Amino acid sequence: MGWTDALLTGIKEIDDQHKVLFDVIARLELSVTEEDKWSAVHFALVELTSYVTIHFAVEEALMRLHDYPDLDAHIGSHRAFSAALADIKKHSIREDVSEAMTTLVKGWLVQHIGKEDQAYVPHLRSAPLAGSAA
Ligand SMILES: [Fe+2]
Ligand SMILES: [Fe+2]
Repeated sequence: MGWTDALLTGIKEIDDQHKVLFDVIARLELSVTEEDKWSAVHFALVELTSYVTIHFAVEEALMRLHDYPDLDAHIGSHRAFSAALADIKKHSIREDVSEAMTTLVKGWLVQHIGKEDQAYVPHLRSAPLAGSAA
């Protein structure tokens, strides 16, 4: 499953980053078809890890700015994914992880962007910035 407009949040910087994430995932999927699959998969995972780290930091900063009440749970979800991704990346040095990788990355990201990210949208759109004058 690729990008669909059903995943839009309406927050431009987040939507732009989510679209880039799907581009990275598409490259990751291509990597499993390459002749030198293990190293292609490994470097695709390195790319995904660095992009996901930036995206999570931006998203968490935005939620914090708006005092999002479910911030801790959302951060926990990001951390769990990062840990699972780090584990797969570590194994990708010496094992074929293409199946585990596809299942984790596609399953988690589509579900997370489609549900958990959507959950902060109404709050971010309506709540004033934390610390701004009431
Ligand atoms: Fe996100
Ligand atoms: Fe998120």
